Amino acid sequence: MRKILLTLVVALFLQTMAKADEGMWIPMLLKKYNIEQMQKMGFKLTAEDVYSVNEACLKDAVVIFGRGCTGELISDKGLIVTNHHCGYGQIQYHSSVENDYLTDGFWAMSSEEELVNPGLTVTFLKRMEDVTERVLEGTSDDMKAEERTKLINENIAAIKKEAIKDTHYEAVLKPFFHGNQYFLFVNEIFKDVRLVGAPPSAIGKFGGDTDNWMWPRHTGDFSMFRIYADKDNKPAEYSKDNVPYKPAEHFSVSLKGVNEGDFTMVFGYPGSTYQYVPSYHLEMLTETVNPKLIDVRTEKLAIMNRYQEADPAVRIKYAAKNARISNSWKRWIGENRGLEILDAINKKQQFEADFTKWANAQAPEYAELLSKYKTVYKDYTNYNLTYGYYREMIRSNGMEIAYLASQMEALKALYEAEELNEEAASKVKQKMNERVELFFKDYYKPLDKELSAKLLGMYATNIDAAFQPDVYALINGKYKGNISKYVDYLYAKSIFDDKEAVLAFISDFSVKSIKKLEKDPAFVLNKSFVEVYDDKVYPQIKKYRTNLAELNKAYMAAQMKFESDKVFYPDANFTLRVSYGQVKGYTARDAVYYKHFTTLEGIMEKDNPDIYDYRVPAKLKELYENKDYGRYEVDGTVPVCFVATNHTTGGNSGSPVLNAEGHLIGINFDRAWEGVMSDLMFNPEQCRNISLDMRYVLFIVDKMAGAGYLLDEMTIVE
Ligand code: ARG
Ligand code: ASP
Repeated sequence: MRKILLTLVVALFLQTMAKADEGMWIPMLLKKYNIEQMQKMGFKLTAEDVYSVNEACLKDAVVIFGRGCTGELISDKGLIVTNHHCGYGQIQYHSSVENDYLTDGFWAMSSEEELVNPGLTVTFLKRMEDVTERVLEGTSDDMKAEERTKLINENIAAIKKEAIKDTHYEAVLKPFFHGNQYFLFVNEIFKDVRLVGAPPSAIGKFGGDTDNWMWPRHTGDFSMFRIYADKDNKPAEYSKDNVPYKPAEHFSVSLKGVNEGDFTMVFGYPGSTYQYVPSYHLEMLTETVNPKLIDVRTEKLAIMNRYQEADPAVRIKYAAKNARISNSWKRWIGENRGLEILDAINKKQQFEADFTKWANAQAPEYAELLSKYKTVYKDYTNYNLTYGYYREMIRSNGMEIAYLASQMEALKALYEAEELNEEAASKVKQKMNERVELFFKDYYKPLDKELSAKLLGMYATNIDAAFQPDVYALINGKYKGNISKYVDYLYAKSIFDDKEAVLAFISDFSVKSIKKLEKDPAFVLNKSFVEVYDDKVYPQIKKYRTNLAELNKAYMAAQMKFESDKVFYPDANFTLRVSYGQVKGYTARDAVYYKHFTTLEGIMEKDNPDIYDYRVPAKLKELYENKDYGRYEVDGTVPVCFVATNHTTGGNSGSPVLNAEGHLIGINFDRAWEGVMSDLMFNPEQCRNISLDMRYVLFIVDKMAGAGYLLDEMTIVE
């Protein structure tokens, strides 16, 4: 008996251990749910060391970088590190043909040389609070949905207002568990954030889109910035009088490295996950939405790649666009593959059968949930696809000429107003001019023309007749269905493919210009798509999403009752989370086992001057030839990246990866191909986050960039 009991206890323990990797946990609640297990896995700190309201703690060294990434403090002088792909926009912004920081890298050799980045912010979390009760105050279940929403919104506004009263902080309030819980976040936002350094793209983006979402990986994906504050250490707009910010906490950088099995913790801002959706959602993605959107992007990329390969200038122009398109395209392919191999739909269906059986017996209020879902997804799927396709046509790097034309709406609206606001108009004109300059800097007409013809053709064959914009009447009428003929006319007649014409049009813009604008075929083209979207797609999407939100809220609550022993983590919603796991390799496919780390040797193996993504910089080769590795050397080489079992997603890029002591050992930047379905279903055998080893970061800063002075301000643990 004792033996059986013991086996049972061990089995249960192992079961919880196995689940340890999955989850993005709320830092404030580690104490309640996770810390014990984290410590069992090797973590040496306490829950308060990670998150505390009153004491300086690790959370004070983690920031939102810009709008969609994570960053972390690595010195007491406001120095932060994030990914190269997170600082890409800033690095590109400062780059010109004379100073091509994207290609050559950039390192400020003193604070005077650091570069100012208009619009870039860094956000610190001061505190968070469960405000569910106050948000729901006065609501009841039998209330009308609208009434309830109105009351909730009023409560939210009041809570936010009170939370930041008499402070310079900002408040954010977000639903968790699909509206079953609410948390308040009080943030401090810094606005003077300067570029300190970035490696050349041949390091920071090494492997490019070829290696993106893949392991083994050798990308030196990091860049460094510095936060500046006013003399009181408070956020301030840029001023030359600002001084480096003194943070409450910064991470020590560990050079001790990682061994397989070591505890790792990722502390950052995961964007969105969909762990609790019904099988219908997975069917929608894998059978309809992903395949169709993959197809459009495959065609986009084929056209872009062809033009980019033929002309180095076009390669540069379309580098960022190509990367953006390719990133989700590749992830969708991996997601479909991963879900299929996991047999995810089946797994969900089995769960749903058990769930419904339970509901029928014990919670009849939930018995109809899945059949309700089924009804909604039946129609929602097509609308969701149409919406996705619509975005691909113009907004997400589609027909660029139509996109530029769409940007004129703001100016048009000003001149349509009863009274012209001259000041606003001149501001908008100036903004538009800047946009036009940037647009044409990265524009290549023959590519856009070919892409437009392709996209118009694909939309017509892939999207229901009911959603075909008016422009097809023109194509099918006057142009007898010949899309190329229509596209020839589009580019011949529109002014939006000609920079000088657009700039002149903007500067002379007056009430009279509205007529001309409304006749421009690129403007008409955009408008015809927007009309379909506004009239036929969006209202329906909105309706279904409202339905789904209600169902999701109920289904989430129901799942928590159904599996009442399980500890649930909320879906990612771009709030600060802790993921913990361990450094670990994995079996990718039959007979192929991937080790947990890569080294400089792998960079040299990939070196190929003929392949753009694999050109190793001369200076790095020189260091390699001379084995000039200094203290970053391990077994005759330098470690580059490692994989672990932390559950991460988009937004976790740039997140600190910490060891058992809470020291910084890596910077998270990606996930491995076999596991990118983790946004929908996590598989501990296959899901791996990819991090840059801090030893490689310091090696590059110190040995390659010669910016070793930056190491002096870090706290380095050897
Ligand atoms: N896959 C990573 C992430 O989702 C890295 C993206 C960098 N962009 C790229 N196209 N390589 O952000
Ligand atoms: N590369 C992603 C990011 O930028 C991270 C991920 O999706 O794993 O946030």
